Amino acid sequence: MAAAVPKSIEWIGDVDGFVRLIDQTELPNRLVYKDCKNVEEVWEAIKMLRVRGAPAIGITAAMGVVVGLRDVLDQSPAEFSATLTKVDAYLRTSRPTAVNLFWALDRVKKAVEPHLGKKPPRELAQLIRREALAIREEDASMCRAIGKHGAALIKPGEGVLTHCNTGGLATAEYGTALSILLTAADEGKKIHVFADETRPLLQGARLTMWELLQHGVPATLICDNMAAQVMKEGRIQRVFVGADRITANGDAANKIGTYGVAVLAKHHKIPFYVAAPSSTFDLSLATGAGIPIEQRDPREVTEGMGKRTAPEGVAVYNPAFDVTPAELIAGIVTEKGVIAPVTEAIVRRMVGTN
Ligand code: MRU
Repeated sequence: MAAAVPKSIEWIGDVDGFVRLIDQTELPNRLVYKDCKNVEEVWEAIKMLRVRGAPAIGITAAMGVVVGLRDVLDQSPAEFSATLTKVDAYLRTSRPTAVNLFWALDRVKKAVEPHLGKKPPRELAQLIRREALAIREEDASMCRAIGKHGAALIKPGEGVLTHCNTGGLATAEYGTALSILLTAADEGKKIHVFADETRPLLQGARLTMWELLQHGVPATLICDNMAAQVMKEGRIQRVFVGADRITANGDAANKIGTYGVAVLAKHHKIPFYVAAPSSTFDLSLATGAGIPIEQRDPREVTEGMGKRTAPEGVAVYNPAFDVTPAELIAGIVTEKGVIAPVTEAIVRRMVGTN
């Protein structure tokens, strides 16, 4: 078994404690931790991608609620409830696309709501803290299960392409799509990973390559626009990516560029898989057309390499995600098994009870 990467998200202390994150904006150059001791710092960490990846965002937001209640632990129940409502609403504005954020906030709300006004604030906050820690623990075991189900799809010696970062940094530990690749490597399948660099914020180059190195899995970094050529050369037998939100029909939002990879995979007859825990499914939406796509700061495109890479004043379009239609997806690997073929009936049967 390969060495584990450092913990991406931790709760430090008791109910009046704080969230400790690996600051992913500093990787791969420095392994730096960011302690978030008020809710504004949690919000900023999510917004600025210090913590990122759908499951990691959800875990952090749930812990962020506890951080946001630190000042009202000894206040009146009314004050506590009002702050809870404010903190919850505030965290929901941090990023729009990954449904895990809303799922986790809904879950902590549901855990505390029946007890509001019946237990003292400190106990209520403790309840939320326990729920947030449970979300983290459950995510870790879902990631391990995804790894096992997905690794069974990979044959020894295959070349596998991935996009963005879906590893331990993006989850409680091990990851989703990356968990599959790490598990296959752990099983001795001698795979070779190709990682797209993932413009504009280079999650593939900075984070996926860092994690693969930590785990000692053979991997090659390519620019996003090289995937077609590498596929044509016959070096990729399978694609695995993560997701930020999967709708009832199996359409999957993921990091911008994923849809293009799926189209390329179809052309080259390479199976394209999505990997995600059930917390990433949004069965309230019929199709991917309803998924809100985050638009980010144009400077991520014009100042991509730490200095200006485009003339001042140019028009920029910077959607952070795209949606891959279900018809391009060979299977969705969840902790409960593989959804294949990807149809609404099978999606609902596999994850409809969440
Ligand atoms: O903008 P990011 O870096 O948060 O986008 C992350 C992705 O798109 C991941 O592929 C997705 O969240 C799955 S992480 C297990």
